[in-house]
Amino acid sequence: MRVTISEIRDMKRKGEKIPVLTAYDYTTAKILDDAGVPMLLVGDSLGMVVLGYENTIPVTMEDMVHHIKAVVRGSKRALIVGDMPFMSYHLSVSQALQNAGRFIQEGGCQAVKLEGGERMAETVHRLVEHGIPVQGHIGLTPQSIHQLSGYKVQGRTPESAVQLIKDAIALDQAGAFSIVLESVPAPLARLITQKVQVPTIGIGAGPHCDGQVQVISDILGLFTDFVPRHAKLYANLAQVIGSAVTQYASEVRESTFPTAKESYSMDEAVLQELAKIA
Ligand code: KIV
Repeated sequence: MRVTISEIRDMKRKGEKIPVLTAYDYTTAKILDDAGVPMLLVGDSLGMVVLGYENTIPVTMEDMVHHIKAVVRGSKRALIVGDMPFMSYHLSVSQALQNAGRFIQEGGCQAVKLEGGERMAETVHRLVEHGIPVQGHIGLTPQSIHQLSGYKVQGRTPESAVQLIKDAIALDQAGAFSIVLESVPAPLARLITQKVQVPTIGIGAGPHCDGQVQVISDILGLFTDFVPRHAKLYANLAQVIGSAVTQYASEVRESTFPTAKESYSMDEAVLQELAKIA
């Protein structure tokens, strides 16, 4: 039985912190699920850390459905959230319903995430009304990277801080089951967390959020193009993989791999028979 959105909401009520990680493939999802991570986000960050795009904007519905399916197959217990890509929910409520429905029906995830506060509240409300759990995402919203003129901390002026509070309240009232706060000053994230009923999940939003989300490739030291300030390296897998692969390549070159241990034998009688005909 998977973690439900009520259990996620209850975690805030009980004061239990919520660890969330992104996942994009079967193998990683299995490891994270076995480790007991209660919520996995198939983020459109996969555009950068898996597909090598400069930002998340080129990511398509097809890309997302493909990866959501893999993460769902790899997990048994975690709540899986699918991140709706750029322009898959902006045109109309019916477009949002159709694409979110596809995530749930075809992808097999249990919830969707979309970026935007007050301006997306009606869409969130309609999705929830139709039985699709929604996670909001405010602060630095990477799909608006050009409008925001770069990856900058949001809510540092009184006006923008007030807008973020309004955004969070609008999402809460619209029925979102949780709200991602990205790159928001810690004191503002704390205030927002106190003002909304649903859990806030921070990334670069300080320690007072109800939960934290990180991009798995960042915390494992796998994605080396850049390391965001808010990420902590819990491992350096790029180094581990690099040295393993270097050793493999040199053993192949020196013919020390494979050995008999990694090879398959053949019956001696068959070999003798073969020698007569070949
Ligand atoms: O796409 C993503 O991984 C995200 C998280 C950073 C919240 O939206």
